[in-house]
Amino acid sequence: MDIANQAALVTGGASGLGAATARRLAAAGANVAILDRDAAQAKRMAGEIDGLAYACDVADAASAEQAVAQAAAAQGPARILVNCAGIGPAARIVGREGPMPLADFEAVIRINLIGTFNLLRLAAAAMIATEPQGPDGERGVIINTASVAAYEGQIGQAAYAASKGGIVALTIQAARELAARGVRVMTIAPGIMATPMLLGLPEQVQQSLGDSVPFPKRLGHPQEYADLVVSILTNPLLNGETIRLDGALRMPPR
Ligand SMILES: NC(=O)c1ccc[n+]([C@@H]2O[C@H](COP(=O)([O-])OP(=O)(O)OC[C@H]3O[C@@H](n4cnc5c(N)ncnc54)[C@H](O)[C@@H]3O)[C@@H](O)[C@H]2O)c1
Repeated sequence: MDIANQAALVTGGASGLGAATARRLAAAGANVAILDRDAAQAKRMAGEIDGLAYACDVADAASAEQAVAQAAAAQGPARILVNCAGIGPAARIVGREGPMPLADFEAVIRINLIGTFNLLRLAAAAMIATEPQGPDGERGVIINTASVAAYEGQIGQAAYAASKGGIVALTIQAARELAARGVRVMTIAPGIMATPMLLGLPEQVQQSLGDSVPFPKRLGHPQEYADLVVSILTNPLLNGETIRLDGALRMPPR
């Protein structure tokens, strides 16, 4: 896909990996709409990249439908969707207070997995109504964000690991289903990335997290995630796969 002049949706684009992606896509000439529940920060980011911002809860059908429709009215139907919105609270299956409240598990599945599917279904519907482009007749590309926790969930990550594992499973399924319509579906599974979530940790904790990565021995830069987004968009043969972006990290049990 040629990124210039394409309409793009980036969920979670107000912060971290989503913000780096929004910047990178805008620099490549895309028209970017940021969909995030943090309306103020989304607006600031959109201002920085001359893009659009929509307050949106990805886990809510009506909220996402409205945001996608508003973005399409302003910049045309998106041919790029990057799903970055997500949360990662830690809790044990059985903690000091007893079994994990079911609502806590549900909240993580709702935002990370259902939220990803919610935007995927809406973006796919809009993409398949567009004209095919280029020699392969491509209509659009959807990129989701899982995590290495999909493969090696640590203690305290039951809900997070299950939500990200669901995204990995969805990837080949959705790619198969949308293949006949010229839409590719890919997922990135990052390791430990230097986003606001992790940069809030004490310096020595960040250092020891970085040291746990085989090579390079450091946290990943959000720009490295954005670089992979661009590689996926521009390489039409990448489809139906989850790519680990982790410096060969394999998470220990805790
Ligand atoms: N940072 C890491 O080390 C790391 C590692 C693996 C996977 N990931 C995944 O990458 C994605 C981005 O993480 P990040 O580190 O950039 O986090 P971040 O907290 O910096 O950004 C997440 C963004 O998502 C938004 N968001 C949260 N819930 C939302 C909702 N219901 N509707 C709309 N927007 C919502 C937040 O407002 C925020 O702007 C997440 O899915 C996370 O699980 C991150």
